[in-house]
Amino acid sequence: MAEEKQTSDQRLQLEFNRWAQRGEGSKMENHHLDITEKTMRRMNLRPGERVLDLGCGSGWATRLLARMVSEGPKGFGQVVGVDISDEMIREARAGSKEFDNVMFVTGSATQIPWEENFFDKVLSVESFYYYPDQERALAELFRVMAPHGRLFILINLYKDNPYSLQWVPKLKVPVHVRSAAEYAEMLKQHAFENVEYAMIPDDTPTPENYRTTSFHSLDDLKAFKRVGALLLMASKPDIRNPAPGYTIY
Ligand SMILES: C[S@@+](CC[C@H](N)C(=O)[O-])C[C@H]1O[C@@H](n2cnc3c(N)ncnc32)[C@H](O)[C@@H]1O
Repeated sequence: MAEEKQTSDQRLQLEFNRWAQRGEGSKMENHHLDITEKTMRRMNLRPGERVLDLGCGSGWATRLLARMVSEGPKGFGQVVGVDISDEMIREARAGSKEFDNVMFVTGSATQIPWEENFFDKVLSVESFYYYPDQERALAELFRVMAPHGRLFILINLYKDNPYSLQWVPKLKVPVHVRSAAEYAEMLKQHAFENVEYAMIPDDTPTPENYRTTSFHSLDDLKAFKRVGALLLMASKPDIRNPAPGYTIY
């Protein structure tokens, strides 16, 4: 496919298929596990819930979620992993054969292949800043989330962690670089409520002989981990039952 004829989604698919072929899909678990576990503790996951893992990659976080919602008094929870890279999805499926409550689907964040009002919780780890049309992705998330559903977006690349900006020139696809406040404003513009954010430090030790290709130095990598990832949190309001005094025209 000639580069100039590609859509931005095709470009992302090709690039992340290359990542998958290089074995990056499963390696990302090492880099994202600490901040993801801290996020999962805030998600208050319960057996029976329906969860979306958007930009699921090789599916390691999807499987953690699946264990947390699997079986309870309210039924059998389900987790759906969506990713633009069909190679990542293939790897995710291959690694999840023993799970009967996960499903992996190839698809774009800007056209989430799922029905509306479905998911109680959404997790997205290190994926959101790649979406060419973040506004459209938020509209899609709003559509597929259940009323009172809660969204958790983890982002390592953002203005308030200046060390993260060192990767931008190394990436082969364009990315968005925004601040926590800008993201919070964007969520509010999309009618999400209870919008909050937090910085989630990565407490994994950095071996002194670790060779970083993403950062200028080991000290910068350590500083990046200390500042941490941005966790955006927001809820979908229950638009079926407007607050007293609120008029629907
Ligand atoms: C840095 S990886 C993170 C993967 C996984 N969440 C993890 O932590 O291991 C980013 C992932 O987002 C996916 N992605 C990028 N743009 C996407 C889009 N527009 N729609 C859906 N997935 C996308 C990529 O294919 C890739 O698997």
